Amino acid sequence: MEVRGRTVAVTGAGSGIGRALCLAFAREGAGQIAVIDINQADANAVASDCGGRAYGCDVTDENVLAEILERIEGEQGAIDLFCSNAGIARMDAVKGEAASAPNRDWEASWQVNVMQHIYAARVLVPKMRARGGGRFLITASAAGLLTQLGGAPYAVTKHAAIGFAEMLAITHAKDGIGVSVLCPQGVETPLLQSIPAGPERVDGVLSAEAVAISTIEGLRKEAFLILPHDNVQRYMQAKTADYDRWIRGMIKLGRRLDEGAATER
Ligand SMILES: NC(=O)c1ccc[n+]([C@@H]2O[C@H](COP(=O)([O-])OP(=O)(O)OC[C@H]3O[C@@H](n4cnc5c(N)ncnc54)[C@H](O)[C@@H]3O)[C@@H](O)[C@H]2O)c1
Repeated sequence: MEVRGRTVAVTGAGSGIGRALCLAFAREGAGQIAVIDINQADANAVASDCGGRAYGCDVTDENVLAEILERIEGEQGAIDLFCSNAGIARMDAVKGEAASAPNRDWEASWQVNVMQHIYAARVLVPKMRARGGGRFLITASAAGLLTQLGGAPYAVTKHAAIGFAEMLAITHAKDGIGVSVLCPQGVETPLLQSIPAGPERVDGVLSAEAVAISTIEGLRKEAFLILPHDNVQRYMQAKTADYDRWIRGMIKLGRRLDEGAATER
C-alpha cells in the first residue's frame, strides 16, 4: 500500500512511534492524517508538525473511539489506513514474580494493548468492507512474538494483539482488508525510558524515525509482519524450532541480565 493521497489515522500519535509514523506519512504525501491521542496537547503539537488534524481520545472507551472514528470519516474522508498504535507497558510489581502485577495493571494493559484494536475493527471493518477494502496496522511488539522478561502484562497482551491481528487478516482478506503488525524490540521513546533495562535493548535501540521508515517499507510490500530489528525473525525461528531450548535460553538471558544489573549496582 502506498500512503500517498490516502487518509490515515494513528492512535498514540502524540509521542514516540506514533508521532514518527505521522511525520513519515506526511513525508510520503498522505492526503489526510488524523492524529489521535489521549493527550490532546501532544496530539495538537504533532498535528501541527505533520499538517494533520488532532483528536483527543482515550482508545479504551469504545463509545468515544467510535464517535471519533465517525468524526474523522466525516471531516477527513474514509480511513484507508488505521494505525492502532497506542500502548502502555506495565511490568511485574515484584521482580521475579510473573503474576505480581496488580489486577488494575493487567486490566489497563488488556484495554489499551488489545481491546483498542477490537473496538476500532468493530467500527471500521464494516465500513472498509462496504467500500471494497482498507488496511490496519497494529503496533504490537517483539514482546508479543518472543516475550518481555520482567513484564508479564506487557508480554501477554502483546501476544494477544498479534493473535487478533492474525484473526483480522485471516477473516477479512475476503473483504479486501489487509493487516500489518509492527513488532519492534527497543525503540527510543518515553515508553522504553519508563521500564527497567531488559532484553529489548540487547540488539540495539532504534529511533522512532527508523521504525517509521521500516513501517513504510512494510506497508509498501503489504507485509503482515513488520520487523524493524533483523534478529527478531531469527529468534522466532529458534523459538518454533525447539521451544524447550528457547525457554532455557530465556532463563539464561534473564540470569545474565540480573547479574549485569547487580554488577552495575
Ligand atoms: N518503545 C519501544 O521500545 C516499543 C517496542 C515495541 C513496541 N512498542 C509499542 O509501540 C507503541 C507506541 O509506543 P511508544 O514507544 O511510541 O510509546 P510512547 O509512550 O512514546 O507513546 C504512546 C502514546 O500512546 C498514548 N496513549 C496511551 N494510552 C492511551 C489511550 N488509552 N488512548 C489514547 N492514547 C493513549 C500516550 O499518550 C502516548 O502519546 C506501543 O503500542 C508500544 O507498546 C514500543
